[in-house]
Amino acid sequence: MIEDKPTAIAAGNWKMNGLKESLEELLALRSAVENGSDADCEILICPPFTVIAAFAEAMKGSKVRIGAQDCHFKESGAHTGDISASMLKDAGATDVIVGHSERRADHGESSELICRKAEAVHKESLSAIICVGETQAEREAGTTLSIVADQLSKSVPEGSTASNTVIAYEPVWAIGTGLTPTVDDVSEVHDAIRADLVERFGDDGRAMRILYGGSVKPSNAAVLMAPFSVNGALVGGASLKAADFNGIIDAWR
Ligand code: PGA
Repeated sequence: MIEDKPTAIAAGNWKMNGLKESLEELLALRSAVENGSDADCEILICPPFTVIAAFAEAMKGSKVRIGAQDCHFKESGAHTGDISASMLKDAGATDVIVGHSERRADHGESSELICRKAEAVHKESLSAIICVGETQAEREAGTTLSIVADQLSKSVPEGSTASNTVIAYEPVWAIGTGLTPTVDDVSEVHDAIRADLVERFGDDGRAMRILYGGSVKPSNAAVLMAPFSVNGALVGGASLKAADFNGIIDAWR
């Protein structure tokens, strides 16, 4: 049976970058997307919480959707400084990244916690982008596949579907470093993730998008996005400038 490749997602993670004035960059992206030749991918930008509502409003009716970078696992309550999935939905977000390695490292987030966050995202009928990936030391120790399998099994909630869940494979050592795995290494990990997802979720597991993230830029996007098991990119640094991100989107034109 020849399967179709699911529609790819070009996702930008702005991290702790972006002010109200960054709307200009987003508008530039929107016009590049609308005026350029059609790209066969979904387009998502996840800016900081403070600008989600304004960005979502500005992108209404366009191909660019707006997401968030994290949420709390509860819907509301005494959690100073936290943001719930229902608040993000209210602000116009459609997707929420959970379990980014910077959250795992900076805030000690465990896969169990990330699973609860993903459940909170699902409860609001939003899509969770659940991140997994090995450190440099884990890769050198040859434990990449077991680390990723462990994160995957603990971070992805029961009952996840292809429409509410996206997996992002992001080797920690490739994030923000300019280093990337070889395309064969990416394929190997994505194939292993796919096998686990199919075993757990059947047809939904087959259709769930698996993104690659870590130093994706216009010059390497087409190569990294080529394997059958790669269904898009989660892009940090190169998503901040419309011209760079649009250059990555070229991989689907
Ligand atoms: P990078 O970040 O593209 O800047 O390496 C990717 C990510 O952390 O999502």
